[in-house]
Amino acid sequence: LADLETEFAGIRFPNPLIVASGPLGTSGETLKRCARAGAGGLITKTIAIQRRIETELKPRYARIGDKRCFIGMQNIGGSSHFKPEIWAQKEIKIAKECQVPVIANIAAGGDINNWAILATMMENAGADMLELNLSCPHQPPKSSFAVPIGQNPMLTSQVTKIVKENVSIPIMVKLTPTVNNIRDIAKAAAGAGADAISAINTISCLAGIDIATEKPLIPAFGGYSGPAIKPIALRCIAEIAQSVQVPISGIGGITTWQDVIEMMMVGATTVQICTAAMWKGVGIFKNLLTEIGVFLDKKGYKRPVNVVGKSLKHIFPFEKYSPQYRVAKVTSSCTNCGICVETCFYDAIQRNKETIDIISERCFGCGLCAQRCPMHAIELEGM
Ligand SMILES: Cc1cc2nc3c(=O)[nH]c(=O)nc-3n(C[C@H](O)[C@H](O)[C@H](O)COP(=O)(O)O)c2cc1C
Ligand code: SF4
Ligand code: SF4
Repeated sequence: LADLETEFAGIRFPNPLIVASGPLGTSGETLKRCARAGAGGLITKTIAIQRRIETELKPRYARIGDKRCFIGMQNIGGSSHFKPEIWAQKEIKIAKECQVPVIANIAAGGDINNWAILATMMENAGADMLELNLSCPHQPPKSSFAVPIGQNPMLTSQVTKIVKENVSIPIMVKLTPTVNNIRDIAKAAAGAGADAISAINTISCLAGIDIATEKPLIPAFGGYSGPAIKPIALRCIAEIAQSVQVPISGIGGITTWQDVIEMMMVGATTVQICTAAMWKGVGIFKNLLTEIGVFLDKKGYKRPVNVVGKSLKHIFPFEKYSPQYRVAKVTSSCTNCGICVETCFYDAIQRNKETIDIISERCFGCGLCAQRCPMHAIELEGM
């Protein structure tokens, strides 16, 4: 049977699933609950010096998606309601009682000396690792953990460097997807000594408008998380993995065991979960681990690390995507519903009484009809 133990940034984790910074890391006790539920690593809610604490913000969650389909959530987050001293004196020690690595997520704003002070405080408190939150999208510009640091390679490098110089435990830098080039930010963090990179944090959003009252669901912009952000996260992890050598912790929309494997295949060694555990409960950790074990066994992989980066060789930037001849072909599963006919903007599909015919001279092989066909009855020949 596959052994799920995972080494990450020099630390041994019993499995690769880590509790992401957020409500599950509210206190030592909530983290312990996650460890008992099977999580392989525990990350605290952001511990900050200049704080707008989360408990001041009411309400702060809005569901996105209709009743049947949850695609994500907006939250307006602040930092932990516990001061750094409380985490240092009490909460980190409680979290550590489960013998699972504890990662202190910290933020200290524009004064880089405060980063050193906070990092040292958490190391002395017993944290096994640090995660530097350079990426919260919905904090005022001058607060501890606003996104601007993580959007600037020079500031990212400065903060990473000062923390690295002041602690001996591994440090992980948490990045935002809201940048022109995440490769540059990853390189800045790795170049300044980061032992690992985590990505992504939430993305600034407005959840929606209640058209009856004409008011927004939450009256401020906030962070988008959950299933809808997974494709953005996958792209970011792949880009980071293709740019730097440090290990990566993948975050963003992970809900199923397949999501975990995908995140690993694009380069993540560990995978963090926040929203799915808030919506489905902490039991999700054990369920995912069981399925991941089954998958690894079936594929003959001994450890999760064997999957890491497997897909990277197939992923190219846009400039290198080379067009190949493709033409649609209708298979015997077709029910003649006609959806594909209205789908093709090149008029390459004809509906006859009994059959659906592709006019191959007109087909550009774009693949839209194959994606829309409810019967999966269209293949692209040549793939
Ligand atoms: C309610 C909530 C609070 C969060 N608080 C923090 C935080 O304090 N620090 C941090 O670095 N990330 C925080 N995050 C971001 C998550 O750690 C994670 O990066 C993001 O939600 C994407 O993962 P998910 O789709 O699994 O939730 C928070 C996310 C949510 C939903
Ligand atoms: S959408 Fe699919 S099932 Fe419907 S007519 Fe086209 S090929 Fe047939
Ligand atoms: S692959 Fe694109 S161009 Fe070809 S038939 Fe389908 S929708 Fe039309």
